[in-house]
Amino acid sequence: MRAVRQHGQGGALTIETVPLPEPGPGEVLIRIQATPINPSDLAMIRGNTLVSRYPYTPGLEGSGIVVKAGSGLFPALRKGKRVACTPVPGKDGAWAEYMVTSAMRCSPLPAHIAPEEGSMMLVNPMTALAFIDMARKGKHLAIVNNVAASALGKMLIRLSVKYDVPLINIVRKESQVEALEQLGAAYVLNSNEDGFREKLRQLARDLGATLVLDAVAGRQTSGLLEVVPRGSRLIVYARLSGEDISLDPALLIRDDKQLSGFYLGNWLQSKNLLFKMRLVHRVGRLLPDILASPVSRKMPLESVEEALHLYTESMSAGKILLIPAQSHRP
Ligand SMILES: NC(=O)c1ccc[n+]([C@@H]2O[C@H](COP(=O)([O-])OP(=O)(O)OC[C@H]3O[C@@H](n4cnc5c(N)ncnc54)[C@H](OP(=O)(O)O)[C@@H]3O)[C@@H](O)[C@H]2O)c1
Repeated sequence: MRAVRQHGQGGALTIETVPLPEPGPGEVLIRIQATPINPSDLAMIRGNTLVSRYPYTPGLEGSGIVVKAGSGLFPALRKGKRVACTPVPGKDGAWAEYMVTSAMRCSPLPAHIAPEEGSMMLVNPMTALAFIDMARKGKHLAIVNNVAASALGKMLIRLSVKYDVPLINIVRKESQVEALEQLGAAYVLNSNEDGFREKLRQLARDLGATLVLDAVAGRQTSGLLEVVPRGSRLIVYARLSGEDISLDPALLIRDDKQLSGFYLGNWLQSKNLLFKMRLVHRVGRLLPDILASPVSRKMPLESVEEALHLYTESMSAGKILLIPAQSHRP
C-alpha cells in the first residue's frame, strides 16, 4: 500500500510503498477514504510531540471501510462497516491507503454522514462537546476561547448558541472578526488590536466568563488569567504558540484561579463505554450542521507536502483532506 512516512524526528515526509499491515487480536484493517490535517499532526511531524518509533505514518484521525477483522467480537462487529477511526497511540496513522487500529477506536458512521465529514467526526466534535458540557455542569455563565476561527472554535460558536452559553471569541486577524460574526458569534475580540486586554477584562466581568479555553499557551495564558474574573478556571488544550507558560502564582493563590489541561484521549479514557456510545451518537446527530468542519481542499496523499504548506499558510480557511488514490476506485 502507499503511505506517508517519516524516518526521524522533524524529518521530511516521503510517500512509500509499504507492506499491507495485518490486524492482530482486537484490531481491524481499514481502507482509508479521507483523513484531515490537524494541528496535532503538525506538532508530531515537526517533532514537537514525541513519536515513539520511526519510521512512522502520521494521521490522527480518518474514515474508511473495515475490510479485515482480527480475532475477537468487536472486530467481527465492525467488519464491512463504514467507520470514523483513530490510530492506537504510538502506532501508524491514517495518512495511508490502509490503517490497522483497535476495533474500539472505530465508530460506525451513520448513513447520512459522508466519508469526508466522517473523517473529522471524532477529535474536534468530541472536544467541543466536552467543553460546552464542562461549562454547563461547572455553572460557568460564559466561556472564553482563544482560537475562535479554528474548526473547533466554529463548533463552539454554534454550540454556544444552541445551549445559550455566551462565548467570548478571540482571534488574531481582523478579517476573522466579521467572518465569525456572520456565523452567529456575539462577542469577537482581536488579540492584536489596541486595548484588547481591557476589552476582554470588561466583557469577561460583564458576562461572568469564568471558563477559559486556551489553545495558544505561553504568554497568552498568563495574560488571560490576569484579566478574567476571580475564581476562573483556565484549561490549556494545545500549545500553538510553542511557548512555555510562566505565571504569577498570586493568580492561583490570591485570586483563586485554576489552571489545568485537557487531552481528549485521557478524558475519554475516564469515561465508560455507555458514555462513549452516547457521545458518538450525539456527535452523529449534530455533525451535519453544528459540528461541521469547513473543508478548503481535498488532495491526494502524494501531495502531502503541498497540502501541509497550504494548510499552514491559512489554517482558519478550512480543513485540508487527504484522499488516498484507492478511494477513488469503486
Ligand atoms: N487537547 C485536545 O484533546 C484537543 C482536541 C482537539 C483539538 N485540539 C486543539 O484545538 C486547536 C484547534 O484545532 P482545529 O483542528 O480546530 O484547528 P484548525 O481548524 O486547523 O485551525 C487552527 C487555528 O489555530 C490558529 N493558530 C495557529 N497558531 C496560532 C498561534 N500561535 N496563536 C493563535 N492562534 C493560532 C489558527 O489561526 P490563524 O488562521 O490566525 O493562523 C487557526 O484558527 C488546535 O490547537 C488543536 O491541537 C486539542
